[in-house]
Amino acid sequence: MPQSAILNVMTKAAYRAGRSLKRDLGEVENLQVSLKGPRNFVTAADRRAEEIVREELAKARPDYGFLGEEGGARAGADKSHRWIVDPLDGTTNFLHGIPHFAVSIALERDGAIVAALTYNPASDELFIAERGKGAFLNDRRIRVSARQRLAEGVVACGLPHYGRGDLALGRHEIAAAQQHFAGLRRYGAATLDLAWIAAGRFDAYWERDLSPWDLAAGLLLIREAGGFVTDLDGGDNILTKGHVAAGNDTMHRELLRLLKEAGKEAAKEGAKEAIKAPEAS
Ligand code: IPD
Ligand code: CA
Ligand code: CA
Repeated sequence: MPQSAILNVMTKAAYRAGRSLKRDLGEVENLQVSLKGPRNFVTAADRRAEEIVREELAKARPDYGFLGEEGGARAGADKSHRWIVDPLDGTTNFLHGIPHFAVSIALERDGAIVAALTYNPASDELFIAERGKGAFLNDRRIRVSARQRLAEGVVACGLPHYGRGDLALGRHEIAAAQQHFAGLRRYGAATLDLAWIAAGRFDAYWERDLSPWDLAAGLLLIREAGGFVTDLDGGDNILTKGHVAAGNDTMHRELLRLLKEAGKEAAKEGAKEAIKAPEAS
């Protein structure tokens, strides 16, 4: 697929940031680490990568707005266009030298994502899509998986972890997934989880407590690969609600149903636990 001018700009920015991250990956132990909140580490590598991406994009489209995980929001003279950027997704993997992380860039026009890119510099895998033009991995067209039976499917997820998320609900959701799917995966980079749905590697995926930069590019990649992606209520408020379910038609629908049931079980158990608590005191 001949790349459009806008995808060329995004690819150039991602490759430059990717080179910087690969250099830093080699020196991971020397990186300055400062705590940004429970379990979240922001590194000098993160900030450097974001600055590189922002510079490259601003060179080509100086009037566009910019929302980056590290530097926050910058308004542009052009109010219709905004870049949404996660310079290093999978920071905990990166800090452990695990080669599963990505640079993710999305272009939003009048509130809709029109171009998307997720690039893993460690594997040199570039996932791109443009609205109405399909999704590609290193120039090969990609489609979501065609599997219809959950028992053959691999589902990926995020996990509530230290200081983040609802452990009880997570337990019920994980148990439901374990009982119905062939496999469960927690890989630690939401942008790649979504890109792997688009490439048919994962059959289904769900996660909560995500930010727009974790989600934006993946939404378009999945839709351009023929997949379904909604918030966990089945609606389209994914970026605002920060939760997501994705897959092909059947896997997505079945996943939503399973999670809903698991939510009811957790609520029942919560009610029981709440009832139990007063006695304990
Ligand atoms: C995180 C990763 C992780 C997800 C977290 C995200 P970061 O992004 O995508 O897989 O579970 O919720 O915050 O912090 O590595 O950019
Ligand atoms: Ca990040
Ligand atoms: Ca992220």
